[in-house]
Amino acid sequence: MQTHEIRKRFLDHFVKAGHTEVPSASVILDDPNLLFVNAGMVQFVPYFLGQRTPPWDRAVSVQKCIRTPDIDEVGITTRHNTFFQMAGNFSFGDYFKKGAIEFAWTLLTNPQDQGGYGFDPERIWATVYLDDDEAISLWQEVAGLPLERIQRRGMADNYWSMGIPGPCGPSSEIYYDRGPEYGIDGGPEANEDRYIEIWNLVFMQNERGEGTSKSDFEILGPLPRKNIDTGMGVERVACLLQDVDNVYETDLLRPAIDLVAGIAPRGYGRGNHSDDVRYRIIADHSRTAAIIIGDGVSPGNEGRGYVLRRLLRRIIRAAKLLGVEQPIMAELMVTVRDAMSPSYPELGRDFDRIQRIAVAEETAFNRTLASGSRLFDDAARTTKSSGATVLSGTDAFTLHDTYGFPFELTLEMAAEAGLSVDEEGFRGLMAEQRQRAKADAAARKQAHTDLTAYRDLVDTHPTQFTGFDELTTEARILGIFVDGRRVPVVGHDTATAQHRIELVLDRSPFYAESGGQIADEGTITGTGASQTAKAAVSDVQKIAKTLWVHRATVESGEFVEGDTVVAAVDPRWRHGATQGHSGTHMVHAALRQVLGPNAVQAGSLNRPGYLRFDFNWQGALNDDQRSQIEEVTNQAVEADFEVHSFTTDLEKAKSMGAMALFGEAYPDEVRVVEIGGPFSLELCGGTHVRNSAQIGPVTILGESSVGSGVRRVEAYVGLDSFRHLAKERALMAGLASTLKVPSEEVPARVAGLVERLRAAEKELDRMRLANARAAAVNAVAGAEQVGKVRLVAQRMAGGMSAGDLRTLVGDIRGKLGSEPAVVALIAEGENDSVPFVVAVNAAAQDLGLRANELVKPFGAAVNGRGGGKADLAQGSGKGAAGIDAALAALRAEIDRS
Ligand code: ALA
Repeated sequence: MQTHEIRKRFLDHFVKAGHTEVPSASVILDDPNLLFVNAGMVQFVPYFLGQRTPPWDRAVSVQKCIRTPDIDEVGITTRHNTFFQMAGNFSFGDYFKKGAIEFAWTLLTNPQDQGGYGFDPERIWATVYLDDDEAISLWQEVAGLPLERIQRRGMADNYWSMGIPGPCGPSSEIYYDRGPEYGIDGGPEANEDRYIEIWNLVFMQNERGEGTSKSDFEILGPLPRKNIDTGMGVERVACLLQDVDNVYETDLLRPAIDLVAGIAPRGYGRGNHSDDVRYRIIADHSRTAAIIIGDGVSPGNEGRGYVLRRLLRRIIRAAKLLGVEQPIMAELMVTVRDAMSPSYPELGRDFDRIQRIAVAEETAFNRTLASGSRLFDDAARTTKSSGATVLSGTDAFTLHDTYGFPFELTLEMAAEAGLSVDEEGFRGLMAEQRQRAKADAAARKQAHTDLTAYRDLVDTHPTQFTGFDELTTEARILGIFVDGRRVPVVGHDTATAQHRIELVLDRSPFYAESGGQIADEGTITGTGASQTAKAAVSDVQKIAKTLWVHRATVESGEFVEGDTVVAAVDPRWRHGATQGHSGTHMVHAALRQVLGPNAVQAGSLNRPGYLRFDFNWQGALNDDQRSQIEEVTNQAVEADFEVHSFTTDLEKAKSMGAMALFGEAYPDEVRVVEIGGPFSLELCGGTHVRNSAQIGPVTILGESSVGSGVRRVEAYVGLDSFRHLAKERALMAGLASTLKVPSEEVPARVAGLVERLRAAEKELDRMRLANARAAAVNAVAGAEQVGKVRLVAQRMAGGMSAGDLRTLVGDIRGKLGSEPAVVALIAEGENDSVPFVVAVNAAAQDLGLRANELVKPFGAAVNGRGGGKADLAQGSGKGAAGIDAALAALRAEIDRS
């Protein structure tokens, strides 16, 4: 029976019995204590606790569940999945133990042609909580289960809670006996691989408090009503009904194994257990990763993002160990989508995003995996050869810091190599690195604050920032400064020549430059006594973190200390600033999604319409990465995520995975800005848009290096982004129209033109040379006898270059033989130039003639200069008018010799 059918029969069975079908909740629910939804009942917790009234007495669901504590068991046992589907029926104060046992029994044992699963009743076992005699009698009565197939178990096995405070109760578990080939007799108590748990019935009746383990917590008291919560493992039922060895070979997981087996040189099921485990890890984890990404998590360094990263990196490594060389994530995601989307259509709808995120992580990790693995192998070898068994914290730290190896991956690799890892050393180095960066940042900051002029105000009058809630604020002037001196009054005429002043107010809506966001612009105008006073604010800086200093130009009137004013931020400016800052968070999030955790923020700057973001990265980004970052950013803008900000304590913010600027010192109370839930979570004091769509388009302009290991991306946002694109479009349209092709054909056309141009230039060179050769033959024919010397002295036409002349002179000299000979050619070259060359053969040199002498008067005649050696000299002049005179002068010179 196919898995989708198993789900359907479950839902039908309970709907028929008066249950309302409730869709699966996201795997991420709003409970900071719970990393992922780990049971079907999680979405119903408030109903069980009596905090909310359930809209129905009976419900049924198939819930997406993630359980990662047993991640190391995946593939090794036959039944552990990090993602599984929990089918459950729920009674909120309606039926209790009897109903639960009855419903479960009938569905399990009804024949398949009557809508049941058709399990053999003789092979079913049950367990109950120690003293739950009532459940024992019900199993006998309702199901006819003999006493020898009912076992009593303790708190750890048969008392269920979510692992955190909340509803809880004794439970009764249903097991199926797979037969002696799977292990020893003796029921679930003896062997859980042979007797496989398929369904847990929880008699939810108490509330638990904090605790330290499954069996150690305080019972706070009874719930308002007695409830039923059950969970049937869909994958496990599928494994039994499909008669396969393990859950990874069921219909929804097997395709991933088959996909990899078709690529990997090492096959599945060939008797190598370690290889088989790797296949199962790939199948299990790809599905879990797709589901988690689908519900909005991106790979990250903490919390859910970290779990996801670990899953993805484990897949990649498992594939490598199976000998798979090529990227594999894209195809794995397709497999998951095809298998799962009939039940979870969101995987199909959101497929592009899911696949992109998974592939980006693969790309990022593949870049460092090989070199990291080499480093690991070397370190492991050295450790072993020195007789040690513990890999150093330094090695683990380098693997983490430089190669992006999750610490657990290093642990796993070490375990495979028979080593352990110095975890304390690793944690110590991580802490040191954070400390160092913090100290650096603090030292840099302190260097430039000169507090002298503002000292009186700094400690007693911190400026109250009102700009998160309003753009216009009534305020009082606390201090006025001109050229670093405090003055009681300043007017248009008494300010500096440029009318520059600094105003300190008690309250201000102006954002002072910080966190990469540049200051707001706007106006400060007097009210009351100084109504005509007006200043334009162009910069706002924080002095000693607490005092906002408004740098402004006085436009009219007088400002007096103590007066009231209205400080008003230019709303258009602020709108642009929020676009810039929110855009920066989006680019940051996209960057990390595409490049992975090593792309750590190193700085940023944003102003209306523009942003830049610096991050640690070795080497340039390729075009693909750049366009992926742009795509992810714009998709997130388009998703119209809500932007929330809230304050919380630093530790909490960090545990939520909020990203902070590395090395920055933060106060204990921090502000967190969240865009689209997990998409972007940053510690930030800046001003932001309300919804991501308000950012408008984001266009990445370029990427460049700003020092060793630090790259910078720059982008336009909002209207500036649009204008940039419009300009590019206009350029393209201009080109297209000049070239008379549609714009898509411009690149091909330009490439074609460049090629033709090159061919034409070549042809031209060839023809010029041919002409020159022909001219040489004519020139020899026109040789004259001047004294003892045969002279060829000629004016050449046709735009010949100096190079052409040299070639020609050589040719002619060769043809003139060994008698004394001189060749002098002068041409009307390009752009009014007049190149010339003079050559003298050996016999003529014996007569005392020198090319470098002859060329001098030659050059003088055409306003130029020439030089060279006795056998060959050349030069160039300007203006063809002197050519004839030059030739005449040369003849005369030779005649004289
Ligand atoms: N909530 C119970 C479980 O997860 C059914 O096993």
